[in-house]
Amino acid sequence: MDDVIVFGSLNMDLVVNMERLPIQGETINGTDLSRFPGGKGANQAVGIARLGLNSFMVGRVGNDDFGKNLFNSLANENVDVSGISQDILESTGTAIIYVDSNGDNTIVAVYGSNMKCGSREIDFTIEKKPDSDLLMLQNEIPAITSIDIATRWSELGGRIIWDPAPASEKHLPLLNVCDFVTPNEVEVSSLSNTRVTNIESAKKACMEIASIGTAVPIIKLGGQGVVYMDGSKVIHQPAFKVNVLDTVAAGDAFNAGFATALNEGKNLPDSVRFGCGVGALATMKRGAQSAMPYREEVERFLETRVS
Ligand code: RIB
Repeated sequence: MDDVIVFGSLNMDLVVNMERLPIQGETINGTDLSRFPGGKGANQAVGIARLGLNSFMVGRVGNDDFGKNLFNSLANENVDVSGISQDILESTGTAIIYVDSNGDNTIVAVYGSNMKCGSREIDFTIEKKPDSDLLMLQNEIPAITSIDIATRWSELGGRIIWDPAPASEKHLPLLNVCDFVTPNEVEVSSLSNTRVTNIESAKKACMEIASIGTAVPIIKLGGQGVVYMDGSKVIHQPAFKVNVLDTVAAGDAFNAGFATALNEGKNLPDSVRFGCGVGALATMKRGAQSAMPYREEVERFLETRVS
């Protein structure tokens, strides 16, 4: 029951670095253009594998160079790729990412083959159930597919961590099927009426989300840490201070760390703290999958921090 299954997206990330983001109608100089393997699902799968668990990726790429590239790089990262298939009609998902000199980012993704995930991927995942307890979902595949697999997985007694990214109203029924929901401060607006701008408003949103569905809310606030429900208590885990280079996939890194710790039997506060450590380390490197830290780095980092 040790395997973790990530059912979700694979994207090729085309990353442009720039001093500051352009305003509407403006042309500016980029300082660098790079290509990185990404996709919220695949990023989480690599994060989990680097932390030492058996990681399975279920998803779909296109019949093109990006797809082959993503498949091979995941296999090289020790992720089990037997649940990834190739769609002959659609292009591989691609994301255009702007990163400014503070490391902040904006992303526009064209999901392509990710949006063809359906019964083939669901059947594969259900077959894997006897070997695994934990399933991870995000919002970069069709909502109907996510809701279907989540319902069946939970009927079989498995746990689910749902990252509602990017925000999508269609995925909302997942709030009553999943065990944990991990929005960032922007995505939280799709789940609650409270506008999250600081720790206090995050606490309010947390209680509101907990009162709507079954999923335990864990709100990611970047440099302000994480606010989450533990039973009837709302807890704030401060962020670890690091030199931020690039925040792309920091949320995915948190999810990978949180899932790993939870799957290893750690309690909720320790799992959140472990996730924060993984997320912080990911902001110190460039790229998405390439930024995921290894187990030893995380353990060494957390040993030196008190909070
Ligand atoms: O969370 C970061 C990811 O979001 C990127 O890798 C990009 O592919 C988008 O899906």
